[in-house]
Amino acid sequence: MNTECPECRGTTWINTIVNGRKKCIRCQCYVNSQKERLLKAARIPDRYTGCSIGNFETGGNPILIKITDRIRQFVEFFPGDRKGLLLMGPMGVGKTHLSVGIIHYLIEDKNVSCLFYDFRELLNDIRSTYDRDSQLTERAVIQPLLTAELLVLDELGAEKTTHWVLDVLMYILNYRYNRMGITIITTNYPDESGIHKSGLDETLADRIGIRLRSRLHEMCQKILFEGEDYRMNRRAEAFHKGIRSRLKRRSED
Ligand SMILES: Nc1ncnc2c1ncn2[C@@H]1O[C@H](COP(=O)(O)OP(=O)(O)O)[C@@H](O)[C@H]1O
Ligand SMILES: [Mg+2]
Ligand SMILES: [Zn+2]
Repeated sequence: MNTECPECRGTTWINTIVNGRKKCIRCQCYVNSQKERLLKAARIPDRYTGCSIGNFETGGNPILIKITDRIRQFVEFFPGDRKGLLLMGPMGVGKTHLSVGIIHYLIEDKNVSCLFYDFRELLNDIRSTYDRDSQLTERAVIQPLLTAELLVLDELGAEKTTHWVLDVLMYILNYRYNRMGITIITTNYPDESGIHKSGLDETLADRIGIRLRSRLHEMCQKILFEGEDYRMNRRAEAFHKGIRSRLKRRSED
């Protein structure tokens, strides 16, 4: 609430006339402060604050054009059939970029409560609650992941899975599944070995087990950042070389 607002003088309500009838509506200052609150709560990493669906470049690559199209459909029809997305592909192709772009769109356009969580960070945050002098409980860390309307779980499988990790994940995903929560998962691990050039020997099922993997497929539609023509497309190759050198430069900074 903005107590300085000249429109509502801090009450968040203004009187207006709609179709010739007097009506009391929320002031724009309130609407904006709601969006700011949602954006802060979404925990988007600083590195990705500038990412939108609009500034995702396709470079004319038919696969990236198709992917962008599906992402646009996803946000425009959101919550749609309540299915999430499983973004699968090698490192650096823009999976996190697009996930953050989706969050930005849904907050701006539909006031959706969103939460971004890196998988490894989640495990660290939960582990740190086991310290004797931790102020937080495991429950308090997990709670926002259960209740956000949209959860982005980034880099699933990036950390070696233990039974403990699988239990936590299954709990979060089952809870969301049963309550129609919408979840976006990104992973560098392929569904079948040798399908994409991730350079990783293991598949997603190797990392998270077949039970979790099949739960994910029930909850999400898969978007694959690879394909035959993708590798054949010279322009795409050139474009991704550009991204790789950008990344390299960044890591050398
Ligand atoms: N098609 C693209 N258009 C614009 N920027 C891109 C594109 N693909 C990747 N990037 C940028 O390259 C970097 C790496 O992308 P990222 O989303 O982190 O990849 P991934 O999550 O697939 O590993 C980010 O800074 C991202 O904004
Ligand atoms: Mg990523
Ligand atoms: Zn106001």
